[in-house]
Amino acid sequence: MNTTATGEVIPLEGTQEEGKPDLRCFDDLADKHDLDDAKIKKILGKHLQEEELKPYQAELIRLQQHLEETGKRMIILYEGRDAAGKGGTIRRVTRYMNEKHYRVIVMGKPTERQASQWFFQKYVSQFPRGGEIAMFDRSWYNRAMVEPVFGFCSETEYKNFMKGVTGFEKELVRQGTILVKLYFSVTKDVQLKRFERRQGDPLRQWKLSEVDMQAQERWDDFTNVKYEMLKRTHTTSAPWTVIRSMDKHLCRLNAMKVILNAVHYEKHDKELDIIPDDKIVISGAREIE
Ligand code: ADP
Ligand code: MLT
Repeated sequence: MNTTATGEVIPLEGTQEEGKPDLRCFDDLADKHDLDDAKIKKILGKHLQEEELKPYQAELIRLQQHLEETGKRMIILYEGRDAAGKGGTIRRVTRYMNEKHYRVIVMGKPTERQASQWFFQKYVSQFPRGGEIAMFDRSWYNRAMVEPVFGFCSETEYKNFMKGVTGFEKELVRQGTILVKLYFSVTKDVQLKRFERRQGDPLRQWKLSEVDMQAQERWDDFTNVKYEMLKRTHTTSAPWTVIRSMDKHLCRLNAMKVILNAVHYEKHDKELDIIPDDKIVISGAREIE
């Protein structure tokens, strides 16, 4: 490293002083991407939001360690309409977790074999072992929303599910599994904006499916089954937590808070504010009032 007579550090050509960003690199990129102040603020804002999640992600690691130490099992359901923010939240919740001790389960269209089994079987086969978290990106609640709306199940199958699911979950919880049921909620306008954005973005296009395209058209059908689901499956042992996800960042942050509150363990960071924002997080019981 060169220094001037006044002690000012002059970085060597092509090198970067330890721990400091190379600003020439920034200038080049800013030129290349035609960055003005507004764009810079937007990018920086997103970066800062991700930074804000970090203490929560660190606490989630601690939660995971606690499960591992005690051999407890945990299941988190991520439900909601298409583009409600389930995927983005799961990615951030799991970002720094130990991959050996969690699984994200996303199921496609049931196979012929699965379709012929007891409805819960394909989900039960993915349940966590001791010390593990199983996160379901959509879950058995397909049978309460997507399936009846699209006619993927019969009226009888729907009724059977609605009748049996509360007992199923009660037993699961009674036998020691920690169950968190998250319902991500969006407005029709926000869903449309997200779909439009996906259409025009090669990084997001894959998220659009045949089923998604109809989510707007069938909005009211979904609303009806959603209320029915919350009304009938929000129970003391397995309550729903609704997360308003119009603001993606607040949605992710608050989902983390809800998860951290669901497990009783000694927090690593006792100063961390894990009280959910009551404008974002609503009990499933209130959502149906
Ligand atoms: P994603 O939520 O990943 O966008 P889709 O919108 O394509 O997935 O589908 C929504 C849900 O519907 C998925 O959980 C999928 O498993 C389920 N599904 C799709 N096709 C069928 C079908 N024929 N029968 C039952 N369930 C289905
Ligand atoms: C979401 O963003 O809610 C989902 O993860 C993606 C989708 O189902 O469209």
